[in-house]
Amino acid sequence: MRTLFKLAVASALLTGIGIGQAQAQMKPEDAIKYRKGLMQTIKYQFGPLAGFAKGDVPYGENVIKRANILAAIAPLQAEVFPAGSDKGDTKAKPEAWTKEADFKAAIKAFADAAAKLPEAAKSADALKAAVNDVGKTCKGCHDPFRAE
Ligand code: HEC
Repeated sequence: MRTLFKLAVASALLTGIGIGQAQAQMKPEDAIKYRKGLMQTIKYQFGPLAGFAKGDVPYGENVIKRANILAAIAPLQAEVFPAGSDKGDTKAKPEAWTKEADFKAAIKAFADAAAKLPEAAKSADALKAAVNDVGKTCKGCHDPFRAE
């Protein structure tokens, strides 16, 4: 029993280290794919929310679900722009790396706005305002940091 427990702990630790290394060593092209995949996932959560804010999608279970998922995945944005992933099949502008403080602020603005969605989703009016705030942060980053 004891040996088994120790083995389980050891393998859990090893797995944890493995994941950490995988991220540190992620190839630039993989980081770019991950980044685009995350952005697409963000888009498909934000789409119904933006539709709701415009009055095209009804308030209800679907938009509440999207609000919660978007809040949960928003913090991942901080890990999809590793050093070295500025070159390749990407529309990210070099400024995302050269103006690091501004770029980090844009990531934080998005994460902070998205973090308010689950609480806001408890009422239609609050959700509408919160969705509009999130929308501003997409544009606030795309305008300076994403090429056309
Ligand atoms: C902190 C900056 C930042 C924020 C915030 C941000 N984006 Fe992006 N987004 C980018 C960059 C940079 C790219 C270009 C990525 C690339 O080509 O490598 C991008 C690309 C995309 C793409 C295209 C992905 C592809 O397949 O090429 C979509 C869709 C997208 N963003 C949607 C959104 C939406 C919707 C929001 C807000 C809910 C958002 N983004 C917030 C920086 C941001």
